[in-house]
Amino acid sequence: MKTKVLISSAVFMISAFFATGAQASVDDADAKSLLNENGCLNCHDVTKTKTARSYKKIAAERKGKADAEAAIIKHLTQPSTVKLGEDMIDHPQVEADPAQVKNLAKWILSR
Ligand code: HEC
Repeated sequence: MKTKVLISSAVFMISAFFATGAQASVDDADAKSLLNENGCLNCHDVTKTKTARSYKKIAAERKGKADAEAAIIKHLTQPSTVKLGEDMIDHPQVEADPAQVKNLAKWILSR
């Protein structure tokens, strides 16, 4: 009984540590420069819905799901077709090294 309590509080402490660690390690400037270099902001605003959903809205829909970060990384690195208004378009991919793409995914999810 006592062991069980100890284990669950240890698990809680570890996940709390990683959750704050992930937040703190997001490089804001690097994420923003990728968004600018890749023209992402032509379609996505951070908080307002433009032609495409805002990053805030995307984050809200993905938040709390175990695969959120992986799904965003996949979306940013592999070809996909998305619906923009009445049209289907090829979604642009991010030209950057994997660590930068991961950082951008974390950045989007923390809006
Ligand atoms: C030509 C317009 C356009 C550009 C440029 C664009 N996107 Fe998108 N993006 C869309 C559309 C349309 C969708 C899907 C529908 C929506 O989110 O409104 C989408 C979806 C997304 C999603 C949600 C994926 C998901 O599965 O939840 C992310 C994240 C994203 N874009 C990031 C980016 C990033 C980062 C860039 C820059 C490399 C970018 N987009 C450039 C139009 C665009």
